[in-house]
Amino acid sequence: MKRISLTQYLIEEQRLHNKIPAELRLLIEVVARACKTISHAVGKGALGEVLGSAHSENVQGEVQKKLDIISNDILLEANEWGGHLAAMASEEMETIHPIPNRYPMGEYLLLFDPLDGSSNIDVNVSIGTIFSVLKAADGMQAPTEADFLQPGTRQVVAGYALYGPQTLLVLTTGDGVQCFTLDREMGAWVMTHKNMEIPADTQEYAINASNARHWQAPVKRYIDELLAGTTGPRSKDFNMRWIASMVTDVHRILTRGGIFMYPADAREPDKPGKLRLMYEANPMAFLVEQAGGAATDGQQRILDIQPEKLHQRVPVFLGSKNEVELVTSYHKPK
Ligand code: AHG
Ligand code: MN
Ligand code: MN
Repeated sequence: MKRISLTQYLIEEQRLHNKIPAELRLLIEVVARACKTISHAVGKGALGEVLGSAHSENVQGEVQKKLDIISNDILLEANEWGGHLAAMASEEMETIHPIPNRYPMGEYLLLFDPLDGSSNIDVNVSIGTIFSVLKAADGMQAPTEADFLQPGTRQVVAGYALYGPQTLLVLTTGDGVQCFTLDREMGAWVMTHKNMEIPADTQEYAINASNARHWQAPVKRYIDELLAGTTGPRSKDFNMRWIASMVTDVHRILTRGGIFMYPADAREPDKPGKLRLMYEANPMAFLVEQAGGAATDGQQRILDIQPEKLHQRVPVFLGSKNEVELVTSYHKPK
């Protein structure tokens, strides 16, 4: 079988389809390289003394793990000097990180969740890095947080790296979703899945059911109907999976279909859900739509939401189209 590397894929996209400017190609390659470094750190585990808590809190009030901070630092350092970025933003940083003056400034903005699934780090369950790329407005001088507040439809690239039994890179530049596997001996990303597609129908769903008593009526109704199986209105049985690393749950859905939900609930009425719009929901929604699936906040397409804050949260329903449409329809006033 002919092996297609990430570099070859990107160069061909640039040449044949004129899709990817050279600067963007460099950006993707640098992010992919940083993910290789993170994968290496993750793989060392206790031997690298990277497990456990950093005993600090991020802006969301969550306790940071050592690997959250290590991964954030790796991404910042890798992406600072290439001249392709204007600024970066991360789950682990309160505000944006403009490119230091000593380096040239580019036109792209990079957002990331450096390590998704932090609660799984110490138990050796798959975790990942999620990223999203936007373009700064023409003529921008000094980037501010406001430059990042663009709807997800404006993303030019989105993807994630998955640190599991295999290390994977799943990517979209708006031309379908491609999956690359890290060849550990060669240190190269090799394309192993072209044009991933999510089937429109599924019998598998993902939700943290321990929050059931806090759910709102439309989610309760939808899940009750799934649980009723063959004897209920859906007339079929459904299976449940919840990994607690969004990146891993979404990868399963891109591989064999399914619906993933993290709704808003009554635990913290001021917070619209748990997941963050800019560096979790938007990149995943872009990937899922590119694979033929759907992604909503229960009311509207996630990619259409106009962000108001960098760390804004959003309810998430994504995956197999017919299921996402059904649960979304339950939220609409009759
Ligand atoms: P992070 O580790 O980046 O903070 O994100 C964790 C997220 C997401 O990956 C996962 O789906 C969800 O939190 C799990 O939440 P629960 O612990 O409430 O199940
Ligand atoms: Mn996350
Ligand atoms: Mn994280």
